[in-house]
Amino acid sequence: MKRHEFFSTLGISAGMIFMAPVVSSCSKDSASDPDTGGNTNNNNNGSIDFTLDLSTPTYAALNSNGGSVVKSGIIIARTSSGNFVALASACTHAGTTVGFESSANRFHCSNHSSNFGLDGSVLNGPATSALKKYNTQLTGTNLRIFA
Ligand code: FES
Repeated sequence: MKRHEFFSTLGISAGMIFMAPVVSSCSKDSASDPDTGGNTNNNNNGSIDFTLDLSTPTYAALNSNGGSVVKSGIIIARTSSGNFVALASACTHAGTTVGFESSANRFHCSNHSSNFGLDGSVLNGPATSALKKYNTQLTGTNLRIFA
């Protein structure tokens, strides 16, 4: 049996044999982060682990109580007492990015007015699910956000 006859009995054309490596190379994940500043690592298990250098202008808002930034789908805020809080930034109601309200120490969604506490819990709807909370760790001017 010739090669093309063998593949033909399997229902495979020569073109399919050569396409397999091309298709698999298109599915590679990219670990690069298009944002400027910070070093993002989204691990294979989907966990979050990145560090922000608070000495850079990009993250200067976090040097003051009440400041906040959004990076990689996470809102990082510095509360009125100076603690860092990191929560998923997409509102659990319909996905709008929430903002930090320093005067009330809460996260607010301007789309339909849901509010979330510092632990991500729903203070009032229409959202019914909490925002995922991430850990924070400050070392010098480096703020690590991780799952
Ligand atoms: S999208 Fe946030 S309350 Fe509706």
